[in-house]
Amino acid sequence: MSNTRLFTQTAKSPVFSTISFALIVFLVYAVAFISKFSVHPSEINASEVLNAPPQIPSDTQNVADKTSQVQAPKAEKSSDTIPQVSTVQEMNEADELDEEEDAETPDPLIPPAKASKEQRMEWFRRKLPELEILNSTNRSRKFHGRVVKFFDNQCAIQFFMIWFSPTRMFGPRDFLSVDTLMKTNPEACLVLLSRSLDTRRGYKILKPLLDRGFKILAVTPDLPSLVKNTPAEAWLKKIKSGKIDPGKNPLAIHLSDLIRLAVLYKYGGVYLDTDFIILKDFKGLRNAVGVQGEDQVTHKWTTLNGAAMVFDKEQPILFEFLQEYAATFDGNKWGHNGPYLLTRVIKRIDDLSWYNLTILPTKAFYPVNWVQIKSFYNTPATPEDSKWVEETVQELNKETYGLHLWNKVTRGFVINERSVIDRLIKSHCLVCKKTYNS
Ligand SMILES: *[C@@H]1O[C@H](CO)[C@@H](O)[C@H](O)[C@H]1NC(C)=O
Ligand SMILES: *[C@@H]1O[C@H](CO)[C@@H](O)[C@H](O)[C@H]1NC(C)=O
Ligand SMILES: *[C@@H]1O[C@H](CO)[C@@H](O)[C@H](O)[C@H]1NC(C)=O
Ligand SMILES: *[C@@H]1O[C@H](CO)[C@@H](O)[C@H](O)[C@H]1NC(C)=O
Repeated sequence: MSNTRLFTQTAKSPVFSTISFALIVFLVYAVAFISKFSVHPSEINASEVLNAPPQIPSDTQNVADKTSQVQAPKAEKSSDTIPQVSTVQEMNEADELDEEEDAETPDPLIPPAKASKEQRMEWFRRKLPELEILNSTNRSRKFHGRVVKFFDNQCAIQFFMIWFSPTRMFGPRDFLSVDTLMKTNPEACLVLLSRSLDTRRGYKILKPLLDRGFKILAVTPDLPSLVKNTPAEAWLKKIKSGKIDPGKNPLAIHLSDLIRLAVLYKYGGVYLDTDFIILKDFKGLRNAVGVQGEDQVTHKWTTLNGAAMVFDKEQPILFEFLQEYAATFDGNKWGHNGPYLLTRVIKRIDDLSWYNLTILPTKAFYPVNWVQIKSFYNTPATPEDSKWVEETVQELNKETYGLHLWNKVTRGFVINERSVIDRLIKSHCLVCKKTYNS
């Protein structure tokens, strides 16, 4: 199908709805950030936040074109610990896929605006037969087998990321998180849970890293088997029966909250969002989550975030998270099934040491909030600014595992020369796609 045809389709076409989906998700998310987290409202420039556009390349070739522009230094790694390139490439099974799967019709997970609870549930029951993500498909049924085989590759660490948007939305800034992860953790294995990237087009995006011998697998997740024998199994059954309100937020967000917990429970490892610059090796971390917010006065933590989580397989606290998810699911409240869920459960626990749980300080993953992060994108204008940039970069390199970029807010920011972000990208990426004007 040519691009021209894709973009001259009617407003009902999948392309159009995909873009609207992206915009809605983005706008709602941006607003949620403003209203949900405990930042003083006057600190937020709402116009700035709302005007930061999500990255939607102007044509579907965009990502593939950028892939072929790349020239990058060779990975610094010993070849004997990395398996034959072809093994991992084979596991991505790109050649098995047909064009139809590349077409990427998204799951219609956005409920109608302003619907009452009853109208929404009625709408959801009608939509259920189309919600492939809740079901097993022929492809998703291979999930467990593919993941287990992939983890046979002498993985120093098992990483997971989730990508539920269409492939064309996976831009250079999303790629950056994968790129910097492989640079800092070259012996690790990364599973990208994604139906859209588990395609030939997705394979092309990852190819620059696969060609360098890094172990990355894009795989279509299988929700029914992931939640099997966990408290969320009953939840899935209930939502599929149309008996619970999916809520007014896009269900994809809440499913991402669930799948990250389930996948860590089942396989163990590290879950990361796709908006990090990874700065450090994760080898020293076990059973850890990061503090996002703390009390200004007492410096005690107030909010945790699940954008980065490290857990042993079947860690009992993951079971508690899954139980809480199933028991308190609310699709109307932002963050309720994600960061606030972790915060709730962990605050209830008297003896964290029984769980061997480590609460990492903000500097581990969220050294800067989504308001102050703007300064990380600016070129230093004065000698004082330059000094601040230098010190900030040094401190981040020393103390931070991954810098969370709050992409929903920062995606539209220009990465200016010699800014903190510019410096970190230049020193921590391998393939280094053009992130600057995206
Ligand atoms: C908010 O940001 C916009 C765009 O950068 C700018 O034009 C506006 O002056 C800012 N407003 C405040 C109150 O800082
Ligand atoms: C999902 O499975 C249910 C039965 O378990 C079935 O009724 C429904 O049509 C399926 N939907 C899809 C998209 O396969
Ligand atoms: C799924 O696999 C079964 C058995 O191999 C096959 O009969 C069926 O046609 C497949 N379904 C699709 C949608 O490809
Ligand atoms: C905590 O660590 C100890 C020692 O490694 C182990 O025996 C115990 O099972 C762990 N507890 C949990 C809840 O993971």
